Amino acid sequence: MERKKAYNVAIAGATGAVGQEMMQILEERKFSVGELRLLASERSIGKKYSFCGRDLTVSLLEKDSFCDIDIALFSAGSERSRKYADFAVKSGAVVVDNSSAFRMDPEIPLVIPEINAPAVTLHTKKGIVANPNCTTAVTLMALKPIYDVSKIRRVVATSFQAVSGAGAGGIAELESQVREWSELKEAPQETNAFPHRIAFNLIPHIDSFTETGYTKEELKLHNETRKILGDDSILVTATTVRVPVFRSHSVSLNLETEKKVTVEEAREAIKDFPGVSLVDDPENLNYPMPVDSSEKDDCFVGRIREDYTVKNGLCLWVSGDQLRKGAALNAVQIAELLVGNHV
Ligand code: A2P
Repeated sequence: MERKKAYNVAIAGATGAVGQEMMQILEERKFSVGELRLLASERSIGKKYSFCGRDLTVSLLEKDSFCDIDIALFSAGSERSRKYADFAVKSGAVVVDNSSAFRMDPEIPLVIPEINAPAVTLHTKKGIVANPNCTTAVTLMALKPIYDVSKIRRVVATSFQAVSGAGAGGIAELESQVREWSELKEAPQETNAFPHRIAFNLIPHIDSFTETGYTKEELKLHNETRKILGDDSILVTATTVRVPVFRSHSVSLNLETEKKVTVEEAREAIKDFPGVSLVDDPENLNYPMPVDSSEKDDCFVGRIREDYTVKNGLCLWVSGDQLRKGAALNAVQIAELLVGNHV
């Protein structure tokens, strides 16, 4: 991308949970933004937000929204990405897409900057860079440091995913159900964002079921992990679960490595890896939890122990803010790579 003093940035889906986080992160990281264009649906036209001391107004996401835009950050769902990303590219913007629309397209890079940054410059042929699924991003931040010590053959992942992963509607639904419960002392029946009540419940179902019995969310973990690591031999089997937590996804991981990796080696590798913090002192009740990893850039990894049921096995637990590293932060880091500021 041509070097400029400031880049015109559009956020498609600016009013949503990830879009709002994108605005905050652009400001926090002092991304050199010229114009910031906020785009959303008809429902939000005219809504006001403040960015770096400027007052901005939301306009409608449409075909002509991208004139003079250098970077378009998309977080308005895959339908909108499929419909509008090409228009953004034709207008001359590079798209960083947070949806699943293009992730598995072999000509579109799928990038976590700490893991496969060079992919960004190698293949921007289509003018689109894909951001991974939020659970995949958090999981890979924990796996990659260990993968660098020894190839990983197989991973068993069980996720505990916050309601904000389902967007602003997910947050509102947990809030209203908890309020209703505490005021009326009875279980709320109405559900919109989730297939069942989420307050005081767990739902082992995220995204739709496929004929394999896995959900699409579970298969994303397998497929995206392979693409990001560039390793078609790694196997990931996942169970993804929605939990009544507002923010930060957590994942329990059991992995089998090719060579033995000791707990100490795993700890050292995690300590040295950018974007990851080791939180592993169970004696002092220190382990990663969503309340601590929320609103943090780093993914927290702990509970590291040898898995005594297999030959080269490790168990660990990661908790990471999926609105940040799982979505908005990762997207802004990709934008930084595009303009040449390395993370
Ligand atoms: P809006 O707030 O106007 O509905 P979340 O994932 O938090 O639900 O956010 C989704 C984002 O995608 C919101 O900014 C939402 O805008 C936007 N969005 C949803 N549907 C459309 C649409 N048809 N056209 C443009 N933006 C949309």
